[in-house]
Parts: sequence; C-alpha cells; structure tokens
Amino acid sequence: MQRLKDSGETAEPAPDYKCQKCRDTGYYEFEKDGYTYMRECECGKIQRERIKSKLAFASIPKEFEGQTVDNFRTDCYSTVEGRELAEMAKTIAKRYVELFDEIQETNAKGLYFHSGVKGSGKTRLAVSIANDLISLKGIPAKFSTTIQILDQIKNTWGERARGRDEINQARTEESLIRDIVSVPVLIVDDIGVEQPKDWINERFYNILNGRMIEKRITIFTSNYRIEELQLDDRIVSRIDKMALPIEFPAESVRAAISRKENDDLMDRLLGI
Ligand SMILES: Nc1ncnc2c1ncn2[C@@H]1O[C@H](COP(=O)(O)OP(=O)(O)OP(=O)(O)O)[C@@H](O)[C@H]1O
Ligand SMILES: [Mg+2]
Ligand SMILES: [Zn+2]
Repeated sequence: MQRLKDSGETAEPAPDYKCQKCRDTGYYEFEKDGYTYMRECECGKIQRERIKSKLAFASIPKEFEGQTVDNFRTDCYSTVEGRELAEMAKTIAKRYVELFDEIQETNAKGLYFHSGVKGSGKTRLAVSIANDLISLKGIPAKFSTTIQILDQIKNTWGERARGRDEINQARTEESLIRDIVSVPVLIVDDIGVEQPKDWINERFYNILNGRMIEKRITIFTSNYRIEELQLDDRIVSRIDKMALPIEFPAESVRAAISRKENDDLMDRLLGI
C-alpha cells in the first residue's frame, strides 16, 4: 500500500486536460497593470457546472431527466384529436421557452396543463419546459408535486414534536414557504389530488398568493379543469389569473407504452 502511494507521488501528473487553457479548473489567470486576475474560461466549464447545480436543485424525477420539449412525441397519441391537442401543447411549450423573458416581464403568466385522463403526458411536457429553461437559459426552476409540498410543510411541524419552541417552529415553516414562493419557476405537479382541508387551503393560498405578488411563474399539471378544483375560491381565482389553461389529449400514453412493453416482453418470452 505504502509503496503504491510512494510511486504514485513521484509519477509525472498526466497533462491530459480537456482544456489546456484552464487545466479544467474553469478559470485562468491573466496579468494587467502588474496585477494578476482570474477570468472564467471560454471552454464553458463553469457555465456547465452552473447548469448542473441548477438541474440538481430542480429535483426533477429520474424518469424525466434530459427530456426536452423537442423530444416530446406527438405521434404516440392514437386519435387525430389527441395528436392535434398534443401538437398544440408542444408548440405552446416551445414558444413559451423562447418568449420566457418577455412573458416574465409582462404578466408572468404560467401554464396549466389539464386532462381528465391520467398518463396523457402533462408532467412530461411541464418538466420538459423546466429542463429547457435551465439548460438553454440558465433559469432556476423547481419541480414539486403538491403532495411533496404538503409533506415538506408537515415535516417542519415535526420540530415542535421534537421539543423545539413554537417560535422556532413557526420560523421553519415560514422560511420553507418563503423558499417555495421565491423560486423563479415552479412546477406544481398534480394539483387537485389533495384532500380539501383548511390547513391545506391556507398553505396553498400563502404559496400561490406570494408567487402571484412577486410575479413568479408557476406551471401546473392537473387532472381537473381550473374551475373543477375543490380548493378555496380565492386559490382557484388566483390560479385562474396566474396560468393559461392548456388541454391535453384524453388518452393515456402511459397505458399505450405499457401495452407495447407487455407485447414486446410476451414476444420475447414466447421466443417470437
Ligand atoms: N408525448 C410523449 N412522448 C413520449 N413519452 C411520453 C409522452 N407523453 C407521456 N409520455 C410518457 O408516458 C408516461 C406518462 O406521462 P405523464 O406522467 O407525463 O402523464 P400525466 O398526464 O402527467 O399523468 P397523470 O395524470 O397520471 O399525472 C411517462 O412515462 C412519460 O414519459
Ligand atoms: Mg402527472
Ligand atoms: Zn477552459
């Protein structure tokens, strides 16, 4: 072990850098007026790292990593109407990413993807917008299901159960809500699945009202139309103001993919 270590220390370091200029550190030194400065290297290493850390922050489910608006398929819907709605949703998503800065500046309207049928691609497209905003524009976006948001809130209450004083507990929940309010782009996945309860209404109200006031963009997915949501009227009216409703096809890509997987497996098992 010791010998290996010694020999490792005396070996020449391999000058095998992808970028000779910054030696893969992302920065290089330059001299001006007798001073030495550091400058970000043009090879883009730092920029790539920024995007990587924004993607980690986004907590996008593994299933959707690397999915973009461009590779959202519209040929996997079986009806003409389904394909048309999917085409329309895809075009809107693409334009939305392109015009993002302008939309943010004007009324900061988000999108509301809905369909009565589960598995129609709503989460897939919402997440793709987040991925594109991060990768193409460096805009911080975050993905969260409503259930995750509520669980995170409930977890802050655990502090009280563990014997912390109430003021401390209140600050913890408050700071969580402040963080959720301040994310520039938030995907709120599956709104409408939660049981309508007073405490839930109150938290959603705080989050969405905060985001509306601060002109933060929110993209929702839901199995309900906005007017069908069983939440407080003041929440529903805010969602109505904050997001443009986009209808998704009433068919399940999930079911179609699953049927195809079953057929393929069956063929393999039967040796066809
Ligand atoms: N247009 C598409 N192109 C490729 N894959 C798709 C497409 N739409 C959906 N999928 C895939 O089908 C599955 C279901 O899609 P997704 O989770 O987006 O549906 P959903 O509408 O959000 O469903 P739910 O209402 O249950 O939340 C996912 O695995 C997703 O990757
Ligand atoms: Mg979904
Ligand atoms: Zn470099």
